[in-house]
Amino acid sequence: MLIQNACWIRMKAAPSKTVPVFRKEFSCPKPVFRAELEVTCDGVYEAVLNGDRVGNFILAPGWTEYRKRLQVQTYDITALLHENNMLEITVGNGWFRRTNAPWTGTQNPDEFLPAMVIAAVHLVYEDGGEEVLPTNSSWEVSESTITLSGIFEGEDADMTRELCFTPAEVCDFPKNMLIPQEGPEVHEQETVYPCSSFLTPKGEWVIDFGQNLTGYMAFEMTAHAGEQLSLSTAEVLDRDGNFYTGNYRSARSQLHYVCREGKQAYRPRLTFFGFRYLRIDEAPEGFTADRIRAVVLHSEMRRTGWLESSDPMLNQLFSNILWSQKGNYLDIPTDCPQRDERYGWTGDGQIFCRAATYQYDVRQFFRKWLADMRAAQHDNGWVPEVIPSLTAYKPGGSAWSDAVTIIPWQLYQTYGDLSFISSMFDAMKKWIAYLPTISGTPDLVTGCWTYGDWLALDAPPDWIPADMEQAKRGYSNDDLICSAFYANSVDIVIRTGRLLGQDMSGYEALYARIVNAFRAAFGQKLNTQTEKVLALHFNLAEDPQRLADALAEQVADCGTQLQTGLLGTPYILHELTRYGHVSTAWSLLLRQEYPGWLYSVSKGATTVWEHWDGIRPDGTFWDDDMNSYNHYAYGSVADWVFGAACGIQPATPGFARVRIEPHPDSRVQALSAVLDTVRGRIRSAWKYTESGIRYEIETPTETEVILDGKTYIVGNGKYIFVRQHMPK
Ligand code: BGC
Repeated sequence: MLIQNACWIRMKAAPSKTVPVFRKEFSCPKPVFRAELEVTCDGVYEAVLNGDRVGNFILAPGWTEYRKRLQVQTYDITALLHENNMLEITVGNGWFRRTNAPWTGTQNPDEFLPAMVIAAVHLVYEDGGEEVLPTNSSWEVSESTITLSGIFEGEDADMTRELCFTPAEVCDFPKNMLIPQEGPEVHEQETVYPCSSFLTPKGEWVIDFGQNLTGYMAFEMTAHAGEQLSLSTAEVLDRDGNFYTGNYRSARSQLHYVCREGKQAYRPRLTFFGFRYLRIDEAPEGFTADRIRAVVLHSEMRRTGWLESSDPMLNQLFSNILWSQKGNYLDIPTDCPQRDERYGWTGDGQIFCRAATYQYDVRQFFRKWLADMRAAQHDNGWVPEVIPSLTAYKPGGSAWSDAVTIIPWQLYQTYGDLSFISSMFDAMKKWIAYLPTISGTPDLVTGCWTYGDWLALDAPPDWIPADMEQAKRGYSNDDLICSAFYANSVDIVIRTGRLLGQDMSGYEALYARIVNAFRAAFGQKLNTQTEKVLALHFNLAEDPQRLADALAEQVADCGTQLQTGLLGTPYILHELTRYGHVSTAWSLLLRQEYPGWLYSVSKGATTVWEHWDGIRPDGTFWDDDMNSYNHYAYGSVADWVFGAACGIQPATPGFARVRIEPHPDSRVQALSAVLDTVRGRIRSAWKYTESGIRYEIETPTETEVILDGKTYIVGNGKYIFVRQHMPK
């Protein structure tokens, strides 16, 4: 990369909060055959050449494990070149210079590194001559019109500000972590227009976009210099219909824009917001709500999956899950896009990964994030719970850090590409070798930190948790959870090793010991729903049918409701289905009361909530503290709808051979799933008719169709199967 010969430059003596614009004027004396810009920064940047934005990558260079990996973008700028050119690069704080980031070296934002950029313009002339314009002291810099920029803060811009350019200062900053762009770029994906604008009971002017989303606002207007447009964001209104921002915690999430004179258009491209509503706190005279729209951002991913049913509430749930993936697949898989967090939580990442692979092609998205996971893994094998890593998290973290095995294995199943597991094999082995070093018991993982069955609802009424965090972890046994995930990770290591042609006998012996130790320690203590679900899902139960029957009974006994948290919820419908309790699984999915998937739908949700009761039946909120309305974790149920209700599964990795085993339920008259696999399109649909059930199946390759326990082998094509109702 040419950028290796360029210098990092900064604005002399600028405080870390300054959002500078760097510029370079240059001319092309001869016809240019090709021109490229290589660029990156310690924040997020926007490059503009002769007034036109360079490329479509919003929030470049993205978020990576910066100490080891900082992506460099290469743009073809040939079409933007003139004879005399002005290149401008504005650098906002972005993820690099945000609080709680280890690479900033401090927790005090006033002491953060200043904004720096490194770039090189490469000109190839038609006569074969070449020229490189690297960043150095010949570049100039000024404070930009952006007066404040941050991922959590949002943006302040003052279009009346006079820019004053001085020579940039060359600074000493490492270049050994610079790597070419790996991930898919984040792009503007769609525009959402306001569906209403109204005054709340408090008298505040609010715009509703009708959809909770991730992105930013864009507007155009005519205004006088100095007039201001100030906007605040919210995901929900409170029960009185007032604007509610409590759940953003310390994230300011606002835009303050000081107008210049005349006609103008704007969008804040160095930050993003999670919102459905905007409050207009101040506006130029004559400003109307139709001047404003929402622009949706997410990483480039090809849509691969579609669900549709005869039930409008289910369809809304499917839409909510899709929107939560869009809203949280913004360069990294985040837990939520709005509050002062937006981290790459590994637990949420692994829980939702399978559903994600049904909805979008996420190969490139995860390739980059898994590379960051490898880079973030500690020498002793510990995988941090958030990737890119942050400071101050606790070692251990089973079920979260097990993303290191679960995600690559899932990607291999969906796409059949061995490189997902071969590239992670060493990291997987290091992780499972680390666990015994912190465990109190051989062959199990005990006494170690975990978030447990986070947010579970299974505690008996008289339970007194030690603290709030324990209360959130639910009542399942942490040692059981950690050991079950350990067994699963060792199992994945064994399967991976075998595929790579390695002798895995040592790991096989370890696995046998783990299963025995698990059964001895926990076999008689599988009490909570999640404890049963994990023992079933990870094949650790001695008598799985009996355990599954007990699980179904337990679910029925408590009023056919979920008590599971983040870890049990993704698997419970699968395990009930696998052991013949299909109707119980459907009952859980279709439940409209709290806790259940359709409860939030009945409350008007347009994305998946963090808590089943984010908004309680009486309209009050769960809490300010941890209450995201765009948290995809429970949206993992989409993989049951695709994989069990419509029954589309890879019989062998990458859908080389397909298995379709639908599980209909007459409470839903029709359901269909379409999935574009690497082998081609699969469709599985069923519909209740007067006389029975009609199945429509389309497959690109050899497929086992399993209906009522009977297997039919079919080749590529479209098929209809009709099942008559049994005479009563
Ligand atoms: C996140 C979760 C995450 C958890 C760890 C929360 O603040 O939003 O989704 O997994 O912390 O328990």
